[in-house]
Amino acid sequence: MTNPVQDAYPVNDVRGLFPQLAVPVNGMPLVYLDSAATSLKFGIGLRKELDFASHEMAAVNRGAHTLAAEATEKFDEARATVARFVGARPANIVWTSNATDGINMVANGFRISSLGRTATDGRFRLAEGDEIVVTEAEHHANLIPWQELARATGAVLRVAAVTDGGVLTVDAVRAVVSDRTRVVAFTHVSNVLGIVNPVTEITALAHSVGAIVVLDACQSAPHIPLNLAELGVDFAVFSAHKMYGPTGIGALYGRDEALAEMPPVLFGGSMITYVDYERAEYLPAPAKFEPGTPRLTQAIGWAAALDIMSAIGREAIAAHEEALGSALYDLVEPLPGVRILGAKHGVDRVGLVSVAVDGVHPHDVGQFLDSKGIAVRVGYHCAQPLHRRLGVDSSTRMSVGMHTTLAEIEFAVDVLSGVRRYFGEA
Ligand SMILES: Cc1ncc(COP(=O)(O)O)c(C=O)c1O
Repeated sequence: MTNPVQDAYPVNDVRGLFPQLAVPVNGMPLVYLDSAATSLKFGIGLRKELDFASHEMAAVNRGAHTLAAEATEKFDEARATVARFVGARPANIVWTSNATDGINMVANGFRISSLGRTATDGRFRLAEGDEIVVTEAEHHANLIPWQELARATGAVLRVAAVTDGGVLTVDAVRAVVSDRTRVVAFTHVSNVLGIVNPVTEITALAHSVGAIVVLDACQSAPHIPLNLAELGVDFAVFSAHKMYGPTGIGALYGRDEALAEMPPVLFGGSMITYVDYERAEYLPAPAKFEPGTPRLTQAIGWAAALDIMSAIGREAIAAHEEALGSALYDLVEPLPGVRILGAKHGVDRVGLVSVAVDGVHPHDVGQFLDSKGIAVRVGYHCAQPLHRRLGVDSSTRMSVGMHTTLAEIEFAVDVLSGVRRYFGEA
């Protein structure tokens, strides 16, 4: 199979940036098809983290010494880099541990407001019978925090259905949106299906009833050039470790008004302007959401990773991955006894395909692939309800990264095509 996009994309140079690709697995070259779980890391990014920790580390903000000033400057630059990468301003980016943390922060904003103790948080206050909308395509990270919030406040969780092909239509969301809807939380790209959801249309619908929109951008931020301000969502979350950056850091994006309205949810030092024994007054966002000493080396490492992606070119990476994803789908589709979860036609997709193999458990599929050096994800990928909806317990997921080659895809599909025979099912 020829792939014109790949010819123009410097995939071999890109591969040279990832030290892990040089380390064989089970005596075979590593074919890493698990980027949707966590990505490989750039050697340059790891070295930048180490350099910062070795030579420049100091507690940021308010330090009176040179190192503190320099560290603060680098840390502020890192926030600006993350912001630029998603079409935001630095003041719109709150550091978090990961995407899960960001969603929980917003849900906790609602929880704290709904206790009725803060005065300036009208839209964050839920009353009994108010409604929270999620979709059948959600990762547990964008389901359970809302489920718990509903339980605590008496709000009702409403779930927008996907089609049998896993497609989320605007009409399906409209069917569960009402004038009681206060939150619409949904994923930009499903981590099981790879299907890209219609963000602007769903956001406009949610805003027409005054609801706050929370976008899970975990699987889009690494693969699709993003402009969150243009998408118009109120909040969005994403994680560095899926974007070739470190674990332990992510971001909560919030529009100015959304961050101003949301009450702080974690409390302590570095977030206040005044404290006495009765009360505290808080700094504006993002500081009001960031008590304590922040994740310094991780922020530096993340910014370094994003700079490399930007230098290679977001559009070029997206085109490369899309072509590979399409090739992956087309090569897997004809395999007998292998069912792909999620439609291909009439939807936009990222480079991710999950399959159910007749008669073979995903763990066996994964081990068979692993024996040939191919790393994939098996299980329900933190999306049990979605798997149930699609009529399976679990699946095997192959997801591409910016370093993936067409030869790797062809090899992986070739190995996959032998799985049923190996386990006596064909
Ligand atoms: C769609 C989606 N949402 C949320 C998450 C949670 O991300 P994290 O574990 O980085 O918080 C993931 C990670 O797998 C994901 O794929």
